[in-house]
Amino acid sequence: MQNLDQVSCLKPILVQGAMDVEIETLVAALADVQMKTFGSWTFWEGQINGYPIVISRTEIGLANAAASTTLGIEHYRPGFIINQGTAGGHDPELFRGDIVVGESSFNMGSYKTEFKAKGQGIHPASWQNFDMTMYLRENGEVVKHNHFKADPALVELAMSMAHTYENGKVVTGVIGTGDEWNREVDRINWFHDNFNTAIEEMETSAAAMVAQAYHIPFVSIRVLSNTDQHAQEFEPQTAIDCQYFVLNVLRKLISQQ
Ligand code: 5AD
Repeated sequence: MQNLDQVSCLKPILVQGAMDVEIETLVAALADVQMKTFGSWTFWEGQINGYPIVISRTEIGLANAAASTTLGIEHYRPGFIINQGTAGGHDPELFRGDIVVGESSFNMGSYKTEFKAKGQGIHPASWQNFDMTMYLRENGEVVKHNHFKADPALVELAMSMAHTYENGKVVTGVIGTGDEWNREVDRINWFHDNFNTAIEEMETSAAAMVAQAYHIPFVSIRVLSNTDQHAQEFEPQTAIDCQYFVLNVLRKLISQQ
């Protein structure tokens, strides 16, 4: 156990989840918990093994994820950000309960359409995705991103704990983020074939963008809570199992600080 002076000079780890079921297990694992709310975003400050941890309920969707990540960084100056929670399967090799450690993420829901005159119809299959979907000003210059990379050391650390997870496999993969919930299997396959998405969810790329702007190491760890590749509907227990895995990753990360 660290004394308080030591604790106060350690940079906290910010751990994010969108919904109550995705954060309650993490909050229950904290010692000395204090809850704070800024606007409509809630944070739980506490410790694990004497190390400062902040759990953030981001709420659902990209705008909430960006807002809560910015608040979390400005208030707590974290050394690391771990986004985690549920996701829907795109890769047919993956089943409900499997975990994807996101090597990269992108805004899957950003489109540009070709001009078509009145009466020429709607052509979703030809909508252009992603080329310059995410703008960040870096050192005064606008930089266009078509994806955000996770911190390789955090990916490696998470993968090194794969053996502790008993509810499925743990793999690395690409995360597609959108204010969308896709259930058309042809569309899911189109994302998987064209953009190599392992899973889809609604927060990661927005949180990753803000983390990148502040140069904070980031990774997203997501469990398949549902997949239409195998007719597996949303199962809330997967969110709890994912948090137990994230706690193992956190303890390992803490032991290295
Ligand atoms: N598509 C989109 N979001 C999903 N989520 C879980 N499964 C899916 C899916 N198939 C997550 C999102 C959001 C909440 C509705 O659940 O990240 O936070």
